[in-house]
Amino acid sequence: MKLLWAVSALLLSCWRTDASTAPNIVTEPHEVSNQTSAVLSCNLTDSSLLIKGSYWTLNGNILEDSVSADASPFTVHRLDKITHSNSGTYECVFKTEPQVKQTIEVKTLPHVVAYKHSEHGNENDKGVMVCVGHGHPLPTDWGWFKEEDGNRKQILNGTGDKYEIKSTPNKTTLTINELSIQDDIGDYTCLGTNELGPGSDKIHLRVRSRLAALWPFLGIVAEVIILVTIIFIYEKRRKPDEVNDDDDSGSAPLKSNSTANHKDKNVRQRNSN
Ligand SMILES: *[C@@H]1O[C@H](CO)[C@@H](O)[C@H](O)[C@H]1NC(C)=O
Ligand SMILES: *[C@@H]1O[C@H](CO)[C@@H](O)[C@H](O)[C@H]1NC(C)=O
Ligand SMILES: *[C@@H]1O[C@H](CO)[C@@H](O)[C@H](O)[C@H]1NC(C)=O
Ligand SMILES: *[C@@H]1O[C@H](CO)[C@@H](O)[C@H](O)[C@H]1NC(C)=O
Repeated sequence: MKLLWAVSALLLSCWRTDASTAPNIVTEPHEVSNQTSAVLSCNLTDSSLLIKGSYWTLNGNILEDSVSADASPFTVHRLDKITHSNSGTYECVFKTEPQVKQTIEVKTLPHVVAYKHSEHGNENDKGVMVCVGHGHPLPTDWGWFKEEDGNRKQILNGTGDKYEIKSTPNKTTLTINELSIQDDIGDYTCLGTNELGPGSDKIHLRVRSRLAALWPFLGIVAEVIILVTIIFIYEKRRKPDEVNDDDDSGSAPLKSNSTANHKDKNVRQRNSN
């Protein structure tokens, strides 16, 4: 039994020393959380290595302005303004043989934005609303809410086959089946939460009546009917004095004042009779 312990202790220490070839870099701070600015630093404390320079990466991409040919075992990266777009996993890399590096996580509240701030759908159709998340870490939880008389009412997935919510860390989609004018018009909020807290955005949903699509068509029909009626009445009225009228008002009988002239003439004609 003692031997077994000794062997496992030995194995453990071997594994430890192997893993510690990387962590002889001391980072300050270990992690940046919910801060507006920070200075990241790495101190390579194992002086036996020959340093040919250093640089920093963000989410695996080299930050060009951090590339240095300095032999210094100490490097800093200044973040004057931390937002969701420069949050992520930072890594300092020392150009040694072998290369050594260490990470510092920079975390912010999630940045949540609606794909469109105003959505619309037709009555009885589907309504779809989308929000996306940015920043590090991405939301681990998503929720949807509807504004009702100043209160936020949570929308639950699958409620009566009406709502369907689909979420991934960087995107959430709310689908409303069979949109109704009475129930579904209004303001919706999507809320994404990571370990630091929530981020949210709002979407206004409009629902159009099925009839609404018909209105322009009905308008045209009404216009045609009115036009035909006017022409019909006009034709009927001018029949008796057609010859005189044509002579007097020349070749443009449709001019706006032609009806007025026409009336005048009728009166004059009647008077002279
Ligand atoms: C780096 O670490 C060494 C050893 O712990 C320490 O003596 C030195 O002051 C540190 N350098 C800086 C710039 O903090
Ligand atoms: C909502 O329900 C649907 C179908 O039941 C499922 O596919 C989906 O993953 C659920 N979404 C969430 C956020 O739980
Ligand atoms: C969502 O996040 C994953 C992992 O962070 C990323 O690979 C992917 O491109 C993202 N998708 C979108 C649409 O942003
Ligand atoms: C992060 O900061 C915001 C305001 O800037 C604050 O409301 C929130 O509570 C903070 N979260 C944590 C975990 O400190």
